Amino acid sequence: MTELLVRRRTLMDDPGAAGRFGEYGGRYVPESLVGACREVEDAFREAWADPAFHAQLDRLLATYAGRPTPLTPALRLSAELGLTVLLKREDLTHTGSHKINNVLGQALLAKRMGRTRLIAETGAGQHGVATATAAALFGLEATVYMGAKDIERQELNVFRMRMLGAEVVPVHSGARTLKDATSEAMRAWVGQVETAHYCLGSVLGPAPYPWMVREFQRVIGDEARRQCATELPAAVPDYVVACVGGGSNAAGTFAGFVDTPARLVGVEADGGAGATRGRLGVLHGVRSLFLQDDDGQIAEAHSIAAGLDYPGVGPEHVHLRDLGRARYVIVTDEEVVAAAHRLARTEGIIAALESAHALAWVMRGELPAGSTVLVTLSGRGDKDLATLRESL
Ligand SMILES: Cc1ncc(COP(=O)(O)O)c(C=O)c1O
Repeated sequence: MTELLVRRRTLMDDPGAAGRFGEYGGRYVPESLVGACREVEDAFREAWADPAFHAQLDRLLATYAGRPTPLTPALRLSAELGLTVLLKREDLTHTGSHKINNVLGQALLAKRMGRTRLIAETGAGQHGVATATAAALFGLEATVYMGAKDIERQELNVFRMRMLGAEVVPVHSGARTLKDATSEAMRAWVGQVETAHYCLGSVLGPAPYPWMVREFQRVIGDEARRQCATELPAAVPDYVVACVGGGSNAAGTFAGFVDTPARLVGVEADGGAGATRGRLGVLHGVRSLFLQDDDGQIAEAHSIAAGLDYPGVGPEHVHLRDLGRARYVIVTDEEVVAAAHRLARTEGIIAALESAHALAWVMRGELPAGSTVLVTLSGRGDKDLATLRESL
């Protein structure tokens, strides 16, 4: 009887005060940030247990972000592949990607903590745009750190952020991409922990971020689970597939299915495959797997999708992989471009290059005929049109 009264714990639950997922996770930050991270964790724990916070967030997600997002049966593509493919349409959210789910949650938290500024890093610009958007909505200031290389290839998103009132700070160090922008954003946070909230964009960084960001993205998986129950005779798909940069859209999706028989598959970029090719290390405050050279130096990632151009992966994914609960695979840039074009022509949907990674794996034709497959379409392709045009 008592068991029935206790909420059933799933594999993807609260990692506890140490923020550990198996041997991964933790909080490896300078002394000056330990207190700030603890404050964020305390505030999040309190907010996440408060029905009023959930009510506020749910209302924002519905009235501002456009949730629930539809689950679209990809009929022509399914017929071509001999599968039943369902697309979870995060591309249809306000600002065009799943990043808005996390940012609205963190902005609401920042307000609750009395902060007046959001600091963020961005790669593809989607998290930066989402942060700038939330800052405008809540009357907060926003400073977004972005690698100079990403600024060049995501020009439109840079303009969006500036139009929304955010300051975009170019980062010229290292490979001038997401890793360098993240380092710079964390450095900036050290100097203003009293007034600024670091709005991290993926399931990375020191505790509580990997857990907190997964919880804010869980809405993807929870909705998809309910939608699959009405869409599929078996209620649960055979495969649940999502692209993995840091891993937030995948973690949010997997959280909805981790306690079902569905096979969970994370798809990484060939040049940014932290879960598949990374080695144990610590970067940006978290113990996880990172691409490294023989001397243990963090290697540069390379991907046609700016949002997957990160040398590491979130700690919970590595834990799920170790347990055999999720598997991680790699697709090439060529497969990704082909997948984006094929989805456009079969379904009339132009996907973000990041999301096209998940599709590319499904399109390989390796899945058993007749399988049911949920694919999270994490974002729309508007930001990638210049890159896609070059590929024609
Ligand atoms: C559309 C889209 N999908 C996926 C990602 C990768 O992030 P994550 O692995 O945290 O979902 C990004 C990152 O910028 C993105 O813009």
